[in-house]
Amino acid sequence: MQGRSVWGSKLGFLLAAVGSAVGLGNVWRFSYVSYSNGGGAFLVPYIVAMLTVGIPLMILEYGLGHREKASPPLAFARIHHLWEPFGWWMPIVAFFGINLFYAVIIGWCFNYFLFALDLGWGLETEAFFKEHFLKVSSGPFAFEGIRWPIFIGAMFTWVICWFICFKEIRHGIEKASLLFMPVLLVMTIILVVWSLRLDGAMDAVRDHYLRFEWSAISLRTAAGRSVWIAAFGQIFFTLSLGFGIMITYASYLPKKSDITSNAIITCLIDCFYSIFAGLAVFGTIGYMAQAKGVEFGEAIAAGPGLAFVVYPEAINQLPAGNRTFGALFFLVLIIAGISSAISLTEAFTCSVCDKFNVSRKKTVSWLCVIGMGGSVIFTTHAGLYLLDIVDHFVNSYALILGGILECVLVGWLLKTSKMRKHIHAVSGRRVWPLWDIAIRFVVPVVLMSILLGSLYQEFSSAYEGYPVGALLLFGGGTLALSRLGAFVLSHVAWPYQKRTHAHTPDEETLLT
Ligand code: PHE
Repeated sequence: MQGRSVWGSKLGFLLAAVGSAVGLGNVWRFSYVSYSNGGGAFLVPYIVAMLTVGIPLMILEYGLGHREKASPPLAFARIHHLWEPFGWWMPIVAFFGINLFYAVIIGWCFNYFLFALDLGWGLETEAFFKEHFLKVSSGPFAFEGIRWPIFIGAMFTWVICWFICFKEIRHGIEKASLLFMPVLLVMTIILVVWSLRLDGAMDAVRDHYLRFEWSAISLRTAAGRSVWIAAFGQIFFTLSLGFGIMITYASYLPKKSDITSNAIITCLIDCFYSIFAGLAVFGTIGYMAQAKGVEFGEAIAAGPGLAFVVYPEAINQLPAGNRTFGALFFLVLIIAGISSAISLTEAFTCSVCDKFNVSRKKTVSWLCVIGMGGSVIFTTHAGLYLLDIVDHFVNSYALILGGILECVLVGWLLKTSKMRKHIHAVSGRRVWPLWDIAIRFVVPVVLMSILLGSLYQEFSSAYEGYPVGALLLFGGGTLALSRLGAFVLSHVAWPYQKRTHAHTPDEETLLT
């Protein structure tokens, strides 16, 4: 059997991990979530969430992947054989619960990149987005056929994903990340500087983004508590935690790897990027509000609207260089999105290859074909509703549950002391004893409260007023089917029982 692939360089691994973390979520999701949760006040819970949950879980995922040299199913099975189904659940949810619609949103970005070249979205950007571009139907069950421009954009995304993941890790994902990340950084800096120089931009940033009020995050009020919940949710999504992606990426690390430093650096870069990119979004919207003579709050719309409705409108208003600015913005989204989409595909590919010992090339090709088929439903006229529902269920339940399971596995079954010993043996930097407390107590308790909070909300009112049948079918269905898939895949015998869960002799030398 061929040995496991290894990253070509420390930088390659770091940029790939950052590439997975930095995605569509950093640009539009972060800005909207932070705005609707008190602007500057949101940054405090956000940073607390990064320190208390983000960094400890990142160390855990890197440590687990590196120690077991395996994707989540095998890594989980090695710690306890009954845990293999949970290990499968993560990459399956990542692939079917996120990758399918994520590719479609990148497909929207391709279309908007082209629209930007001649400002094809016109003056009524909201009507354009909903009525001309998406041609949104009346509800989640009204599919009404495929929207071909979106379909083509999504398929194009899958082809790029396939092309990058097809090659061995160091020739595919690593090379792509080494190219994408510096380009993304330079483009984001241009975008931020450009935005902040617009009239009214600085005022909007000062008054609405970097303004801090303690009362907004008080745990005594329901509104304050929901800010904390939103901050923890955002940290999970933005750091790509709970999907098994970071476990997979770390499994390709060489023997001596600084797990702790890499984990801390990944978290810091990702959070810094979000806060930095937020300057561009708030600045541009501030400029638009001033140009239109409306209040800042009236200029901003929720969720997908921010990038595809408000931003084009702001671009229309720019005094000069509208087309270039627009193209740059959507290119930033495309690059950030693709570097995340490939990590989603990689987690599932690696899991299948680890278990069935099949060729990577064949696996990637099949998965991308399946992905193309699965994405079609999100390219229909009901696509916007469907992705909103699936995204809500995956983010509120699957991710959080994934995080809790990891904590139980490493904190209680393997024992944090063993993992800590391993990390000390391979990295220069030691892990603080606080980490053990975080993994065994703090993170599970925090995640449990978030999970219960979400469940409570779910039962008190239907999410966004969608029909309950649609929520159950598309949201609950995605979760249930991925559990079923995980169960089936973990019960298929390891190929002719030749391979066991045991480490290969090479991997054995890693264990401490
Ligand atoms: N972290 C990515 C973002 O912020 C999203 C993502 C989530 C990517 C989970 C991979 C896995 O957009």
